Amino acid sequence: MTLLQLLNQRVKAALEKAGAPDAQPIVQPAAKPEFGDYQANGVMGAAKQLKKNPRELAQTVIDCLDLEGIASEVSIAGPGFINIRLDNAFLAKLANQALVDEKLSVSTSQPQTIVVDLSSPNLAKEMHVGHLRSTIIGDALARTLSFIGHRVIRQNHVGDWGTQFGMLTAYLIESGNTESADHALEDLEDFYRKAKVRFDEDAAFAERAREYVVKLQGGDTEVLALWKKFVDVSLSHCEAVYETLGVDLTRKDVMGESAYNEDLPRVVSELKAKGLLTEDAGAQVAFLDEFKNKEGEPAAYIVQKQDGGYLYATTDLAAVRYRAHTLKADRALYVVDARQGLHFQQMFTLAKKAEFVPSEMQLEHVAFGTMMGEDNKPFKTRSGGTVKLAELLVEAKERAFALVSEKNEDLSVEQRQVIANAVGVGAVKYADLSKHRTSDYVFNWDTMLAFEGNTAPYLQYAYTRIQSIFRKAEVEYAQASIDVSEVAEHGLALTLAQFPDAVESVAREACPHFMCAYLYQLATQFMRFYEACPVLKGEEQTQKSRLKLCQLVAETLKTGLGLLGIDVLETM
Ligand code: ARG
Repeated sequence: MTLLQLLNQRVKAALEKAGAPDAQPIVQPAAKPEFGDYQANGVMGAAKQLKKNPRELAQTVIDCLDLEGIASEVSIAGPGFINIRLDNAFLAKLANQALVDEKLSVSTSQPQTIVVDLSSPNLAKEMHVGHLRSTIIGDALARTLSFIGHRVIRQNHVGDWGTQFGMLTAYLIESGNTESADHALEDLEDFYRKAKVRFDEDAAFAERAREYVVKLQGGDTEVLALWKKFVDVSLSHCEAVYETLGVDLTRKDVMGESAYNEDLPRVVSELKAKGLLTEDAGAQVAFLDEFKNKEGEPAAYIVQKQDGGYLYATTDLAAVRYRAHTLKADRALYVVDARQGLHFQQMFTLAKKAEFVPSEMQLEHVAFGTMMGEDNKPFKTRSGGTVKLAELLVEAKERAFALVSEKNEDLSVEQRQVIANAVGVGAVKYADLSKHRTSDYVFNWDTMLAFEGNTAPYLQYAYTRIQSIFRKAEVEYAQASIDVSEVAEHGLALTLAQFPDAVESVAREACPHFMCAYLYQLATQFMRFYEACPVLKGEEQTQKSRLKLCQLVAETLKTGLGLLGIDVLETM
């Protein structure tokens, strides 16, 4: 149980004893330290319902509240808030428990099977910045969920099927490159562009391209072999990017659109059998009452085109059924651009109506906004093209290398390179993860690489500072335990005790920025503590305890950044 869950449980029990069994405790971290550490705000609502004086009810609740060994002070404030200050000895106990637990006291009593649909680029093109958010938000969520103890299944739902592959195959054959496809596809983007030019300018070529699509879908061995080449080369490009990003995604996580090909006719026939489809101008359409078009009529959700072809929607219906039945997922997170919101809401609704998934399965579109340039328009290169992810990451490392060299001339080039990789890639990821995912955000090199503020370099630097304290320590503190007495120690130990709640909120809301906000607060509290409480001076006992506190801060920073997929460094 997390700290917040414990306090809510205790206040809930007190409310019950005080005659308000239906009231919610609503415990939250206090807005200001003067109010204590936590505040329970549920009494006012309960008093209103029971027609009682709120301050009197608050007093009764306090009389019934058992926080023995947890709180040092409980008081009423204002119209009936209950302020709770935690006991120093209790905070010390939590800190010492976390120190000996490799999961820093994070766990769950109800492990679920959770599918995370992430990255999912369209193959045969190079990954561009649009895929950055899905990849790193998805990776952070998958890491967090499995750290808590859930069974996480990553699904890279790549776009590896459809008309563009006919075009590419036609071009590969035409250019006589079928034997040396690897070489021809080295620059995928270039290859794609040339094929597209041919497709647009030559009707006969376009016709051939369409024939290849039909052949591909019909299982023609020659065309299939060429298609596999494309997919293979394209996936290797993605893997290079995942590697640079430090994202945990491999071939075994790939379950692309093509994987559902054989299932598509059945999706449509089952929907039909359940009376969920209407034929509209030759197409098979689901009209769902829940979604209205501009005219206020049920909006059309097409699952089969007029020519019999299947769509993105059909594949996603097959995929969601696979996730429910074969993967046995209790929850599925789709980390996809916010602009696909309507598609997912319609797909989820239809999948539930069709009983493709159990009614209790949690289906969530983890939507994210657009990455913008300085001009507040979607991020582009100077010439207006899409920014390739691989190139962006090269630039991040170069910029970080220059910064690190400025700060630390004495390090060797190799050392600076290692630091620059962690700082550069970390900065790009953190800048993205630290914003609420649904908002658009402006990509800015200077703010993300700053050593001040809510940035990766700031947190990485806080970690290395603690490492340098350890190197200077002269007392043997390995077996020591933490003692909390000073105000700054109390503040720091309180923040440390909130780590499981931070992890929990990321997992519940599928919002990694909660972890960033937490880590930033932790680093800030640490700086405060470090100024107020000398660590390497004073009595030996105090030094040992404070070194242990530093150790827990370092481990929490490292673990928290690790859940975001960001590395720490011993020196920088
Ligand atoms: N390939 C799609 C795109 O780039 C994203 C797929 C997301 N996942 C899904 N199950 N639809 O737009």
